[in-house]
Amino acid sequence: MKPIVIVANRIEEPALKKLKKHFDVTFFTSMNDLNDLEFLENLKLAEGIIGLFIDIDAEFLDLAPNLKIVSTISVGYNHLDIEEMTKRGIMATHTPDILNDTVADTMIALMLATARRIPELDRYVKNKEWNGLIPEELYGVDVHHKTLGIIGMGRIGHVIAKRAHLGFDMPILYHSRTNKPDAEEQFNAKKLELDDLLKESDFIILITPLTEETSNMIGKREFDLMKESAIFINGSRGGTVVESELIKALESNKIKAAGLDVFTNEPVEKDNPLLEMNHVVTLPHVGSSTLATELAMSMHATNDLIKGLTGEKPVSLINKETFK
Ligand code: DGY
Repeated sequence: MKPIVIVANRIEEPALKKLKKHFDVTFFTSMNDLNDLEFLENLKLAEGIIGLFIDIDAEFLDLAPNLKIVSTISVGYNHLDIEEMTKRGIMATHTPDILNDTVADTMIALMLATARRIPELDRYVKNKEWNGLIPEELYGVDVHHKTLGIIGMGRIGHVIAKRAHLGFDMPILYHSRTNKPDAEEQFNAKKLELDDLLKESDFIILITPLTEETSNMIGKREFDLMKESAIFINGSRGGTVVESELIKALESNKIKAAGLDVFTNEPVEKDNPLLEMNHVVTLPHVGSSTLATELAMSMHATNDLIKGLTGEKPVSLINKETFK
């Protein structure tokens, strides 16, 4: 009998095909429905789980006594309780690196779209409001040569800095737990304390993982420190920002604009005030969502799941100290 594997939410077709060669695979569109008896039966027997945004905590793990590995098709893994999984001898894997360039492209796109008001002007043209010279109130602001502050200078932050500095002549500031000599050497990036970065940046891109340390790290105090002309971009997780304070900062023009790929609740609530603001550009959490990158991520997670269930060490093991 082949080992049982649960696929959750989304996976690209070639990866699903590959999984089916090795395992007895069942696809579920939601892992949160613990009233679904078929799901619970599968979960009891499952040795592997793979998918996107799969929430796994102790209560969930109690229902999965045979689980050996969970592969998330994302670089972020704040939705997995790694400590609890490690305690129970369950491997966790993710998909770092593959998506760096794609997410960096998305962040640059958000920065440009917000500064140059691309979605708003697109609506203006399509609504047939373009009847002559456009009023000055619709002008955007320059991106080139402005100072970019990157919070979370990891692998993705590095390639954002590359694009911004080499492509747009932007001076780069960064805030990170560790020094980044490569970015300092290649892009003349300067490491600053968070408060100084917030005070000095024209654009701020938040791209840190969501951890206990970064949870709600940008709130009223931090928005107050920003320039009134600052444009704030969030490509990390909604949980890194106190969303109610972001809304207040935008409503009171404490900051100029925001570009958001992530929200406190996803999908974002239909009555969220951010959706009514012209100076906010929104995306539905698509940082890595190109066909090529999603496929590469699905295949990477699949290969690691296969490795984990056939006695090999997965390449992108999160709890690697435990499974040497
Ligand atoms: C990730 O992989 O964690 C990204 O947020 C997906 O866009």
